Amino acid sequence: MKKILTLFLLLDWSVMAVDLKEHAAAHPAGDAAYSFDMAAYREDIRHLPIGVFDSGIGGLTVLEAILSLDLFHNDSLKPGADGQPDFADERFIYFGDQANMPYGNYSSVGRTDYLRELIVKDAIFLLGRRWFDPISGSFRQDKPPVKALVIACNTATAYGIEDIRDALKHWGLPVIVVGVVEAGARGVQEAHGEGAVGVLATVGTCASGAYPRVIGQTLGRAGRSIPAVTQQGSANLAGVIEGDPAFKESVAERSGLDARALVTAHLESGAKAPLSTIVLGCTHFPLAQTEIDSAFVKLRSEAAFEGLIAPTLSYVNPAEWTARELFRALASAKLRNHQAQNNAKDSFYISIPNPIRKDLPITAEGALDKVFKYGRLPGDLQREDTVNVPMTPERIPMTTRKLIETKLPQVWQRLKM
Ligand code: DGL
Repeated sequence: MKKILTLFLLLDWSVMAVDLKEHAAAHPAGDAAYSFDMAAYREDIRHLPIGVFDSGIGGLTVLEAILSLDLFHNDSLKPGADGQPDFADERFIYFGDQANMPYGNYSSVGRTDYLRELIVKDAIFLLGRRWFDPISGSFRQDKPPVKALVIACNTATAYGIEDIRDALKHWGLPVIVVGVVEAGARGVQEAHGEGAVGVLATVGTCASGAYPRVIGQTLGRAGRSIPAVTQQGSANLAGVIEGDPAFKESVAERSGLDARALVTAHLESGAKAPLSTIVLGCTHFPLAQTEIDSAFVKLRSEAAFEGLIAPTLSYVNPAEWTARELFRALASAKLRNHQAQNNAKDSFYISIPNPIRKDLPITAEGALDKVFKYGRLPGDLQREDTVNVPMTPERIPMTTRKLIETKLPQVWQRLKM
């Protein structure tokens, strides 16, 4: 019975992915919702921008890491800083699917099928030209397509990277895909010595099992022994870091609770080795690394956790490793831009509930109603519950805006332009 159910679920998942792939293929001019202009990819794509997406604004931490990277010589591609940002000649398009987030909670309500559809839709948006102009109240078709897709969201990488790769193959596009989970596992390969690995992520990322699986594959391929990996899913920390008024606790308090839950899970797993590497497996968590580290320092002195936390912890920030992977991937595909783009600017988009639709249940704050949001089924590609509009500073909640301004200066500067 269990086997039949598993088979049914697998079949159901693949049907969803085929629908969206076929839908885009059936509209090659990009004139329908969830489709893109396929002809754009028959020409040289090196001058196109790089697309970065996340479930919301958290992925801006990944964009900041990309914009700040200087680990290579831009001319010779040799390792080493040359005083020039590695992506100095590139421009970026960022998309945050704010209206449909948190992505990390779809698994708890059994709706990862719909989540997977959302993730492929995010990729299609970046590949295409179509966006919604809230001033005229109509769709426009003049956004540039992208030559690379950076999945800046851990949950979206965990559930959607294979669907995106599969769709790109189906459409025959030479577009590069880099995801934070694989990059983070590469970070573990470099940072990890003895001991066990702890992963702090969303509930959804943990439920997918992506980090333990990809860390195992990455270290295994490198001929390394595979460490014990303990995960802890947090339903609240991302919201607390963003300053969401729905949460009353401070970042330090929430970090303390989540660090405790991780060490408790490690104790209960029966693993003998102490946690020595911590993966900050959610876009927001690197912003709270100081609070998370202080929490582990306190827990180390508790008798119940004796021997379970190594004397020094290494932290892996998947954002930094994603930036490196992106540079390598672009260089090896010979897709780095070499044309001066003096007037070209980065652009930022965010999703909002579709203002044309009058039937949507909307909260007092203007968001999609939670029950509606998490109750949707995949496959209905005619209706657009959300539309993607320019992300201006005014569209970002005040607390989040402050966070970007103080912690992500490169992004803030470009967002203001
Ligand atoms: N961006 C998500 C991640 O990295 C966190 C926020 C969410 O759950 O949507 O997993």
